[in-house]
Amino acid sequence: MEKWTRRKFFLATLAGGVAASTKGLLGAAPGRKSTFAADALQQARTGGQGARPLIVSAANGIHHLDAGMAVLKGGGDTLDAVLAVVTKVEDDPNDDSVGYGGLPNEDGVVQLDACVMHGPTGRCGAVGAIEKIKNPSLVAKMMMEKTNHIFIVGAGAEKFAVDEGFQTMNLLTDRSRLAWLAWKAYTTENWRPGLDSPEWKEKMAELLDTSERMAWRGHIEDVVMHPRTGTINCVAVDAKGDISGTTTTSGLSWKISGRVGDSPIIGAGLFVDNEVGAAGSTGRGEENIKISGGHTIVEMMRQGKSPTDACLEALHRVARNYKAFPDRLKLFHLQFYAINKDGQYGAGSLWGMHPDGRRVQYAVHDGTQARLLPTTPLFDRKGGDY
Ligand code: GLY
Repeated sequence: MEKWTRRKFFLATLAGGVAASTKGLLGAAPGRKSTFAADALQQARTGGQGARPLIVSAANGIHHLDAGMAVLKGGGDTLDAVLAVVTKVEDDPNDDSVGYGGLPNEDGVVQLDACVMHGPTGRCGAVGAIEKIKNPSLVAKMMMEKTNHIFIVGAGAEKFAVDEGFQTMNLLTDRSRLAWLAWKAYTTENWRPGLDSPEWKEKMAELLDTSERMAWRGHIEDVVMHPRTGTINCVAVDAKGDISGTTTTSGLSWKISGRVGDSPIIGAGLFVDNEVGAAGSTGRGEENIKISGGHTIVEMMRQGKSPTDACLEALHRVARNYKAFPDRLKLFHLQFYAINKDGQYGAGSLWGMHPDGRRVQYAVHDGTQARLLPTTPLFDRKGGDY
């Protein structure tokens, strides 16, 4: 991992400030040398010339956008379209950031957060820290449709879901359970074989060599060293210009029991205004909550900013919160996704690349085919090396 000096970070942050106040885009700053094809970033930035229907999600929705687009093309509701996408990710045991198979909290319990917003009616629903129900996005919709409340959490949310006919199940897969045990072993000596045991190992890497964990060793090492704030956000606009969105997550892995991130918070993890557009997020929720990212982006679009520039303005506010210690920005990731009523779209990320060097991307389907595009980064570097 390239080590950033404090001076480099100061310069990058300063550059971000200058860019955000002029064009709102570091990647497009004159004379700036990008490590990524400039035309791809430019395409991402101007992405969406106004196609409707349109559906956009975090990258982990790429294989399911067709299902959402089919709902939109069939004249279905935009909320049903986004739910058609995210419920498939919630059901997928191999996506460890959402629903079934999501990484658990520090007690080994999977607690899920989700919300929905329905633009045409201006209604919304949300659940936080719900256990044993694999589709919290559908519980959030049920909350919106069947109650006079908006947000329900914990045991009350589970009871509500069961009363409404949702099935309970164990959400912890073997893969997530073993990752959790490895995290405990890594952080707590008491969860390793004792000093007097033939299986005692000095180093974490040696512990991971045990046969049971071997199959997922790379994955386990990664999630132990880099706690996840995966998630899926999905937003859609139909041919008439009606808009909806949803965000669903298992939240920050190894979190304190009961911790709720930005995903179910209306105005942070998601915001929809049927006259303007929609925005949502993935990544470290605490940073988003502090700037009410979803609402901020929609308000920026109302004032005329493009979806991408609105996302970058929100990210700039996040970066500004670290003015006193900018080097800490590299310790987390945050992504925003936005669409407007005309069917234009964009996404911004704090960093251009994941810790492993993969480009940060998002998924778009504008009626022709689903494809991945690079997000427009505030800082076109590698980040999230926590
Ligand atoms: N954005 C997901 C979380 O922080 O919980």
